[in-house]
Amino acid sequence: MTETLPLPPGETGLPLIGETLAFVRSPREFTAKREQKYGKVFRTHILGAESVILIGHAANHWAFSGEDKYLQNRWSYGVRQILGADTMSLINGERHRERRRMVTPHFKYESMSHFVPSIEALSRQHMERWANQGSVLTIEHAMRTLAFEIIALFIFSDEADQLDLPYLSELSKLCADGMFTPITINLPFLPFGKALKARKDFMNYLRPFVQKRRESGQHKADVLGTLLAARDSEGNGLSDETIVEEIHLLLFAGHDTTVTSNTNILLHLAQNPHALQCARDEQNALAPDDRVFNLDTLKKMPYLDAVIHESMRLIPPIAGMFRITIQDVEFNGYRIPKGTVILLNPARTHRDETVWKNVEDYNPDRWLSGEKQPPFSHIPFGGGPRLCLGQNFAMVEMKLILSLLLRGYRWELVPHQDLTYRSLPFPLPKSGVTVQFSRL
Ligand code: HEM
Repeated sequence: MTETLPLPPGETGLPLIGETLAFVRSPREFTAKREQKYGKVFRTHILGAESVILIGHAANHWAFSGEDKYLQNRWSYGVRQILGADTMSLINGERHRERRRMVTPHFKYESMSHFVPSIEALSRQHMERWANQGSVLTIEHAMRTLAFEIIALFIFSDEADQLDLPYLSELSKLCADGMFTPITINLPFLPFGKALKARKDFMNYLRPFVQKRRESGQHKADVLGTLLAARDSEGNGLSDETIVEEIHLLLFAGHDTTVTSNTNILLHLAQNPHALQCARDEQNALAPDDRVFNLDTLKKMPYLDAVIHESMRLIPPIAGMFRITIQDVEFNGYRIPKGTVILLNPARTHRDETVWKNVEDYNPDRWLSGEKQPPFSHIPFGGGPRLCLGQNFAMVEMKLILSLLLRGYRWELVPHQDLTYRSLPFPLPKSGVTVQFSRL
């Protein structure tokens, strides 16, 4: 009986906009302040919706196991408009499960094996170019170009080089920049208006490409090929419009996240010489056969795994996960009414002092020393039925890029840059992390 339970504590702010401005200015500060005042479950009104913010492993477990029982996925209005309502990350229930099933074979760990040589070749090419430039490199920018080419190759295989990737990458960036803005009004000079226009240009550019592949009758074993061939249980295929939307989602989800993670990892390593040395030592100690990249050799780098986990603990690339309750429900002694947006907060969960020791320290060794945390304490890739589809892809890509960098290159932070973080759309230092980049 939930009716008699109290609502979670909290405030709902100004009429209409609620507490959105404070949230968007700094989601981290916003959450930390209210957590201190109200605890790990509190109410607010942000991004156009009555919301409850939940922090901690127990809350994550509750949310990940409640899909289609008491809650469903629900991104904010801005995200829904820009990603499109019919993509995998926005549909729910059986449609979601079916859509995921269609593309899952591409995302299995074993399926990455034939893709490893392409990631390696592209990464080597880019890194040599960065080193030959002989000048200051902005890591975020450099990683963006590389990661976009990698994900495009994954989706379109050899046809990726028929596409204007810098143009699509720019459109994708405009979309990301407009997704979480507080003012979701379609005016051409506002980030939201620019994002809507970029989405339209993106769709218009890719539609003929998808149509051409369909008309050619060719079946390629890439993601586009799978989307074109996919049939639901009644034998219906996906429309071109849905396919273009799914590609838009995959290009977006499949590169901004790895760019964020790799940029933050290189910064953490530059700031922590001991961790950098241990990571280099691990690469240098590999037997000659283990220096050849494949799925087995990538598994033999526990310190690099720890470096990645620790960076994503401190700076999870996806700072929040949104759900909506589909019935009145109880959590932790509070009543959460139907229609409330639930916002999970990995960044605060990853700094929970009841779970982690010395939460602010960058300490990859914690992952190797047997320090144990309860399930769902570390959720950079989410959990439950929405667990990141690209987790294997991301780990293979990140490990390969980082191994190559550790083996062959040095990067030193340029002094006097602004390393304070912006939070949205992705948590990255404002400077983009500028470095002197050279061969070892
Ligand atoms: C470091 C890299 C990455 C991180 C940290 C990350 C994180 C996440 C998280 C937290 C979610 C769950 C969102 C939620 O619960 O609402 C998610 C979902 C998703 N991710 Fe990733 N991701 C990464 C890389 C990738 C890559 C490389 C791809 C594609 C190639 C990808 C594709 C997706 C898709 C399609 C979903 C939606 C799944 C669904 O709703 O069923 N991600 N990701």
